[in-house]
Amino acid sequence: MGTRAHWSGRLAFVLAAAGSAVGLGNLWKFPYIAGVNGGGAFVLIYLVCIALVGLPILIAELYIGQKGQANAVASFELLHKKKTFWAAPGFMGLLSAILILAFYSVVGGWILDFAYMAFTDGFSGKSAEEVSGTLGALLGNPGRMAITHSIFMALTIGIVVGGVKNGLEKWTKILMPVLFVLLLILLAKAVTMDGFGRAMEFLFSPDFSKLTKEGILEAVGHSFFTLSLGMGAMITYGSYLDKKENLIKIGVMVAFLDTFIAILAGIVIFSIVFSFDLEAGSGPGLMFATLPGLFAQIPGGVYMAMAFFVLVGFAALSSSVSILEVAVVYFSETFKISRKKMALTAGIIIYIMGYLPLLSFNKLAEVKVLGLNFFDLFDAASSKYLLPLGGMMIALFLGYILGKEACLKITKGNELAATGLMWTSRVLAPGAVAVVMYNMIIGL
Ligand code: TRP
Repeated sequence: MGTRAHWSGRLAFVLAAAGSAVGLGNLWKFPYIAGVNGGGAFVLIYLVCIALVGLPILIAELYIGQKGQANAVASFELLHKKKTFWAAPGFMGLLSAILILAFYSVVGGWILDFAYMAFTDGFSGKSAEEVSGTLGALLGNPGRMAITHSIFMALTIGIVVGGVKNGLEKWTKILMPVLFVLLLILLAKAVTMDGFGRAMEFLFSPDFSKLTKEGILEAVGHSFFTLSLGMGAMITYGSYLDKKENLIKIGVMVAFLDTFIAILAGIVIFSIVFSFDLEAGSGPGLMFATLPGLFAQIPGGVYMAMAFFVLVGFAALSSSVSILEVAVVYFSETFKISRKKMALTAGIIIYIMGYLPLLSFNKLAEVKVLGLNFFDLFDAASSKYLLPLGGMMIALFLGYILGKEACLKITKGNELAATGLMWTSRVLAPGAVAVVMYNMIIGL
């Protein structure tokens, strides 16, 4: 495979992997699906999934990439020393990448539009209620969404063409911590708001009567989505990692950071929901209906709105890049096509596919496949099914094919931890996914 570019150090890698993990999944999707699914019980299941399913699979993916030093499909083959059906998650991952990036880019476009509105003073002086209708108006304007979807995709392609080291590493290193600080400032504000107490109760006191089977599957699926698991993104990132790195430490740091940011976003957003009497279960528009309202009300809020949407834009880009990267690395290594050509080809195909979810809010609103519009279909097919299935296979591959020896390498010789990791990968993680999916499909 020759020499592969590597990250410039452990911190750089943790930030890049966290850059992939932390994105719209944390700031936009987590609060909205927690709201739709009634809060506390959903959040609890999501947290348990991160710890017991997501974390081991994250470590497994990083190991497969680090050991294979190749794209997501080839890494399985190299580790298994033959062409193998275990490479299936790599192939399924290519499909997931297309589906996810197609709708991700549309939402990324909304973020860019909100950043633009923040800079052109679109929110100040308005009431929280007026501001909360902004996204609704945007969704009825496909032409405008097409512009920002195009810009978001062009930026994603541009960064992937440049390669992992140029640009991306540098920016995530600076901007991720800044986003984190801004969220802490917003948290400090949220604590003082009337709705804070109800927000905490909503998020952290589980009421299992509100949770449906679908909600459980959504929580499982989201633990994959938010950690960028189940489609080879972390395998691909792991392949740029030095063989010496301690994957358990890295995995724990990434999972912790990612979860912490989602919870922070949830607390801030629901404090606004309950302070301004907005609808907790309002769906994909939740983040866009809440935060601008808060910004419009606080001194200096105009600047905060600008900073917030620009930073979230960067967080979204450092994630979208990791999605496109999987496909680009695979096709360019397998078919010896240049990175640049491949990024453009894959990027443009996904960009065009993106018009289905984009138009599902307006012109194609009536078109339903399996009862879902294209936006929800792309999201559900990938997050609820493809990613968990891919992740399940990755766990089984580590647990059974690579086995104890690999687990010992991961835990640097710690026998107890290796045994724990092996059984988690053999039984616990795949079992949890299988049970939830079985119940969902069979309808028990
Ligand atoms: N984890 C990212 C987020 O939360 C999205 C993402 C990036 C992703 N790469 C991925 C999701 C790979 C699934 C698979 O926004």
